[in-house]
Amino acid sequence: MRSTPSLLHGDTPLDEVAADLRRRDWTVLAIDPAHPLLLGAACEARHHLLTQRLRPASTGRDDGLRLAGLRGDETLWLDDPACGPAAAGLLQAFDPLRVGLNQRLTLGLASVEAHFAHYPVGAGYARHLDRFRRDDARVLSLVLYLNRDWPSDGGGALRLHLPAGCHDIAPAQGTLAIFLSASVEHEVLPATQARFSVAAWFRQRPRPV
Ligand code: OGA
Ligand code: MN
Repeated sequence: MRSTPSLLHGDTPLDEVAADLRRRDWTVLAIDPAHPLLLGAACEARHHLLTQRLRPASTGRDDGLRLAGLRGDETLWLDDPACGPAAAGLLQAFDPLRVGLNQRLTLGLASVEAHFAHYPVGAGYARHLDRFRRDDARVLSLVLYLNRDWPSDGGGALRLHLPAGCHDIAPAQGTLAIFLSASVEHEVLPATQARFSVAAWFRQRPRPV
């Protein structure tokens, strides 16, 4: 079996990532925009849009958000049989990050779930937390952007609502935002062009009831 090219370079400062998360609950990493996995994933996401495999993110507990017009993205889980090698490669590539952060932060990160997301022009996602009220499995949220040459006036920022104020992150290819699912409220601002990403969550095992 061929090994998956690592998303992170050998010298990726996982210590710094962990320190940021400990100190302020969020961080941003820059991955090479021309990384083969990113190029493949960007291509795959657009292919899924063209072949109408993306679905309004409306399953189960998200229904309310969609019906209320709070969320405008359409998604496809990376472990869906319709997904290709880039999706599988990305899922694998997230794992060393999960393990490395687990070692440093002992967060009990047991698994990863991830989906492609496409926000059509003008769509956004209102301010929210990724941790659901009745399901505390999501511990860390990761959003990896797949938009080459994102223009400075393209909108579509990920806006973090932090104690010190707002912080906007442009959805440019290779940018990887990481934040604590339970504490960092965030929103997606409407964009002036189609916006593609992979959203992933590192999950803890559900607590026994
Ligand atoms: C989400 C989300 C942020 C983004 O999918 O829950 O907040 O920038 N996405 O796409
Ligand atoms: Mn979110």
